[in-house]
Amino acid sequence: MKICVIGSGTMGNGIVQTFATKGHKVVIKGHRQESLDKAIASLDKGLSKLVEKGKITSEDKDITMSNISTTLSYEDIKDADLVIEAIVEDIKVKETVFKELDEICEDKTILATNTSSLSITEIASFTKRPEKVIGMHFFNPVPVMKLTEIITGQKTSVETFDTVFKIASDIGKVPVRVEESPGFVVNRILVPMINEAVGILSENVASKEDIDESMKLGANHPIGPLALADLIGLDVCLAIMEVLYNEFSDSKYRPHPLLKKMVRANNLGRKTGKGFYEY
Ligand code: NAI
Repeated sequence: MKICVIGSGTMGNGIVQTFATKGHKVVIKGHRQESLDKAIASLDKGLSKLVEKGKITSEDKDITMSNISTTLSYEDIKDADLVIEAIVEDIKVKETVFKELDEICEDKTILATNTSSLSITEIASFTKRPEKVIGMHFFNPVPVMKLTEIITGQKTSVETFDTVFKIASDIGKVPVRVEESPGFVVNRILVPMINEAVGILSENVASKEDIDESMKLGANHPIGPLALADLIGLDVCLAIMEVLYNEFSDSKYRPHPLLKKMVRANNLGRKTGKGFYEY
């Protein structure tokens, strides 16, 4: 089976590593040679660390790397069986890419998107093959996180769903079936919980440390909601809340003003060195 991943950022690289480790040939389609070179270097470095830690052998690493190739040209991926798009979360950019893929790829090609908040039905509408468009939502870091939400748009066929569900299982993930709805399952539960924690903090009900400690010890979460927000990125949390709020028009999804204020101050969490905590 020929697999292609579009995009070589955090998620694209994780998806590529996961497929290649499981013995699949995978092609990364990038839009700049520089980012493809960076992706290969980062995959190599990540796998070398696993060798150092004794988690894989250097032979495993070589086999995995030999399963990965790169290209800048859509022509090279036209015969792919499955294309997984993992580029920037911007509907306009995804529209351009899906139109291009639809134009170039053979009829058999399934087009999957790793979007964390956009509508699969809308993305499918950019193509003439909506029955072959599906959500394949991996979690970060992809090689570690077991779950994959397999999301059907309104026109996704049963055959496409069955094929992608099986592929996810074959690469060691635990797929769950999700019918498209804003936030899918995980983010619809998780991000409002984070938003609530922000509200509790802003009302001075408890300190940030105590809010996080409460959820770790009282709900058995491995990490508290505010530390988790810093890890995900406050801008990402806000974007997801906005999707939920706009789509449902329900005040229970209103992004908390403190969350907005933090984003406006560019205190986005780990990636900017400061969020609810300092890094
Ligand atoms: P990233 O910022 O690490 O990577 C984005 C990629 O998009 C880069 O390879 C970049 O070169 C490419 N790109 C940017 N503009 C482009 C353009 N105009 N044309 C083609 N490619 C372009 O982003 P990340 O975090 O890997 O996210 C990718 C997708 O995965 C998004 O849809 C995001 O919502 C989703 N996602 C992210 C998760 C996360 O925790 N970061 C978790 C689950 C899904």
